[in-house]
Amino acid sequence: MPTQSNGNFVGKVAFVTGAASGIGRATALAFAREGANVGVADVSEPGNQATARMIEELGGRAIAVQCDVTRTEDVKAALDKTVEAFGRLDLAFNNAGIEPKKAAPTAEYDEEEWNRIIDIDLRGVFLCMKHEIPLILKQGGAIVNTSSGAGIIGIKGSPAYTAAKHGVIGLTKAAALDYAAQNIRVNAVCPGYIDTPMMGRFTGDTDEGRAKVISEEPVGRMGKPEEIAAAVIWLCSDAAAFMIGHAMVIDGGQTVQ
Ligand code: NAI
Repeated sequence: MPTQSNGNFVGKVAFVTGAASGIGRATALAFAREGANVGVADVSEPGNQATARMIEELGGRAIAVQCDVTRTEDVKAALDKTVEAFGRLDLAFNNAGIEPKKAAPTAEYDEEEWNRIIDIDLRGVFLCMKHEIPLILKQGGAIVNTSSGAGIIGIKGSPAYTAAKHGVIGLTKAAALDYAAQNIRVNAVCPGYIDTPMMGRFTGDTDEGRAKVISEEPVGRMGKPEEIAAAVIWLCSDAAAFMIGHAMVIDGGQTVQ
């Protein structure tokens, strides 16, 4: 067990998508610090292997599994490999996602871009839950899905991302009701602006781009991936045993009206 663990999840197995980068990587590491063995899933093969190595350096156990969340066979194979390696599945963080390539009003929005974003950011979460739930049902557990501030408020020029992230919250609520009585708790997190490679692409990694984003954050800074990881860990823990179908906003006040 990693030395810094508080042991919340000793003997448990977690599966994290989008684990090669940003919020997913930070959360995979946080699960490992809590003593969980981790299935580190991402479409990016070198990235997920690097995350798995970081977990091993902490003294934890991980398996890197390549997985495109839009492909059923990939999702099933990644979960099967995780269970083969560690014997069970208790916890899942369905977090893989992409940002829009460019903003455009709804009537001018590119249809292919719509399909790409809905496919990864919404249908991918559904496919992961579809194949995780039968495994978690064996002993119970928890699932957290990544929505966004764009799941709470509308984003001008971003109809697909807004619809996908609102959809993640609806999907989370429906699944939470489906399995509440069977000992699987399903919740969502809604991050604000978080300093990750995705945010780097969004701001163009310029001082001006970063300053604009920060100006929209009442707290006066971007969030850190670890601040989302902490919320996911709490939502998966017994401390959140009565939390069902909740969309937890962690956003420095960005969506507070
Ligand atoms: P990131 O770009 O740093 O990491 C996303 C990861 O998802 C990457 O490793 C990428 O390879 C992976 N991925 C993309 N498509 C995939 C697919 N089809 N199958 C499997 N993996 C795939 O992004 P970040 O910032 O860590 O975002 C994580 C999640 O948080 C996303 O769902 C994003 O929409 C959401 N989010 C991020 C915010 C931010 O400010 N960074 C704000 C609100 C939500």
